[in-house]
Amino acid sequence: MSAAGASGAAGARRVTVRDVASRKAKGEKIVMVTAYDALFGRLMDESGVDLILVGDSLANVVAGLDSTVPVTLDQMIYHATLVCRGVKRAMVVVDMPFMTYQVSEERALTNAARVMQESSAHAVKLEGASDDVARAARRLVAAGVPVMAHLGFTPQSLHALGGFRVQGREPEAARALAEGARRMEDAGAFALVLELVPSTVAAEVTASLRIPTIGIGAGAQCDGQVLVTPDLLGLNDTFAPKFLKRYSSMADDVRAAVRAFGDDVRGGAYPAPEHGF
Ligand code: KIV
Repeated sequence: MSAAGASGAAGARRVTVRDVASRKAKGEKIVMVTAYDALFGRLMDESGVDLILVGDSLANVVAGLDSTVPVTLDQMIYHATLVCRGVKRAMVVVDMPFMTYQVSEERALTNAARVMQESSAHAVKLEGASDDVARAARRLVAAGVPVMAHLGFTPQSLHALGGFRVQGREPEAARALAEGARRMEDAGAFALVLELVPSTVAAEVTASLRIPTIGIGAGAQCDGQVLVTPDLLGLNDTFAPKFLKRYSSMADDVRAAVRAFGDDVRGGAYPAPEHGF
């Protein structure tokens, strides 16, 4: 159960990095979902999740793009600001977009400072575990910015990885993944997202780390799970990867509701007398 209990945000204290760490120690699963605006930030918060990720997946599910690469720092800050307005209890983590943390440690610090100060978010997420990324993470953590790492399929490297594919299948790749995970833990990351990784590999990485892993398409042995909210709600019904479980069929509900509104307007049933002044 979350710090607030599973049922809501009212009056509960903020989830912190210490709560996230203690979940792993206690064997309690961590729940993370994405949000991109204040409305869904509030609804996710009221649903009792631990972490809300302002993911650069907004490229795919909000902006109609086919890659996260074009997303800018200003766009992430804008969406993170909206989400933070709606969230009272969950910890809000913001994706640092493509190439805003690799160029130099100074650029990473300056860019993360903008995210934290302008949006009021509580942490940032960095993809990859190269020396540049690990150094950036170390500097951010030293400066007081909690860093979540992200390995396996890292969407900002879509073009280099050759598409949306499972990572770490070969022994060599699995070893590199485990080393990267350890490097980011050593750099001070408080949690690690594992995306599209064989369950056995994710289980080994999870067992080898002190920090919790949060999986998406990485099996049941991760310390927590994350899904992209419009996917889990069935609102984005054009994306159906094997790992996804849809908990609603909101796209159908939206189409049916708006069709009904259209029928009422065209047929004269709306507005009725009780809707007038
Ligand atoms: O951008 C995003 O939503 C993510 C999740 C898939 C973990 O990085």
